[in-house]
Amino acid sequence: MPFDHNDHYHPLLLRHLPPHGRTALDVGCGTGRFARRLVAHGYRVDALDADPATLAVAEASGGGPRYRLADAATAELPHARYDVITCLAGLHHMPFETVTRFTQALAPGGRLLVLGCYAGVTAWDLAAIPANAVARLAVYAGERAMGAGADTAPRKAAVREPGMTLPEVRAAAQRLLPGSRVRQLLYWRYLLEFTAPE
Ligand SMILES: C[S@@+](CC[C@H](N)C(=O)[O-])C[C@H]1O[C@@H](n2cnc3c(N)ncnc32)[C@H](O)[C@@H]1O
Repeated sequence: MPFDHNDHYHPLLLRHLPPHGRTALDVGCGTGRFARRLVAHGYRVDALDADPATLAVAEASGGGPRYRLADAATAELPHARYDVITCLAGLHHMPFETVTRFTQALAPGGRLLVLGCYAGVTAWDLAAIPANAVARLAVYAGERAMGAGADTAPRKAAVREPGMTLPEVRAAAQRLLPGSRVRQLLYWRYLLEFTAPE
């Protein structure tokens, strides 16, 4: 399996979970890898994705999330329900303004965590190129050592090129989610964090 830039950030996201959270929604859950990690952390997890084939793979993997086939940009979301809402590499598949729908589904004090992808090149991205090569090489070497081949790779969720640059993401986040923080990460990613008022 190739190095996965989103899975790489699972530990970071888990460290940003709110204290004492119990209910979670994972938006654009793909094959459900992060949703299952939330379950393993004691959360009751709803996980939604718009692609039936991807969701079928998630459902077949089991692990406890309650899966739902839905378009996050238009589907009805419960009001003030979730202690945490996560969206990993999914927001650029939908209008950025969809974040306001997510915040309405947050319980008081609940937290929105978006692992986002941005367009364009910054100085950090130049640093990411060698890091990326090393990470891919390490995964390849590990697979060779274990005898794994390309035909064993599991199905991956759909990918799409992001349309917003990091400054555009920051500006939109400030406008739509006052008090949010956008932190640039390696591998063309950012972490958007927003905590709903108590
Ligand atoms: C790049 S994949 C990321 C999947 C997963 N979060 C991960 O980290 O592996 C983006 C996912 O978002 C889903 N998606 C795209 N648009 C969506 C929408 N409007 N509502 C819900 N899911 C959507 C896609 O079907 C895909 O599974």
